[in-house]
Amino acid sequence: MEHKIRLHDKTFKMFIPNEDIEKAIDAVAERLNRDYAGATDEDPVVMICTLNGAIIYAAELLKRIQFPLVLKACKLSSYVGTASTGVIKTEVPLPSHLEGKRVLVVEDIVDTGNTIVAMMQQLKEHKVKDARVCTLLLKSEVYDKDVKLDYVAMDIPNRFIVGFGLDYDELGRNIKDIYVLDE
Ligand code: IMP
Ligand code: MG
Repeated sequence: MEHKIRLHDKTFKMFIPNEDIEKAIDAVAERLNRDYAGATDEDPVVMICTLNGAIIYAAELLKRIQFPLVLKACKLSSYVGTASTGVIKTEVPLPSHLEGKRVLVVEDIVDTGNTIVAMMQQLKEHKVKDARVCTLLLKSEVYDKDVKLDYVAMDIPNRFIVGFGLDYDELGRNIKDIYVLDE
């Protein structure tokens, strides 16, 4: 029987097993190690982990990254339940002293892109030297913004998913595989 889980009022079924996620992360980390090979202790890359969803992805990347890097975090939110509200709230602001830095934004998922557009706008106001997006997942059928998504580990259809850091009303972040809403 297919494995299913229940969170709050909804049932989810197995979608992407952990080993497939890890393989996709290996490939992204290899690209990052190549692209940021020039970073130095004096000019490290600033990784900004977007809380809370990207915590596990950022941790898995950190284990694989070999260039000098500083870890920061911020929190923007738009989702309530299983849908984007389109209104972005800044819950934890960007770190200070980003001027002239090379920034790598680590996201769990890009859906409508509203969150990443707001984030890139804020980074521009901070006068960063370079800002790139590194997202575990992309719903390319939905994404319609102009922000370039530099590193995408996996493209998924427009379905609501949980696990590997992603939540349904705060539950499910600790599941090591990715599950999809069973409709
Ligand atoms: P966007 O602003 O529409 O691109 O949405 C981005 C944010 O919405 C992500 O960082 C997630 O927190 C949340 N999100 C989007 N799709 C999903 C999903 O399928 N499951 C859980 N959270 C999601
Ligand atoms: Mg998120």
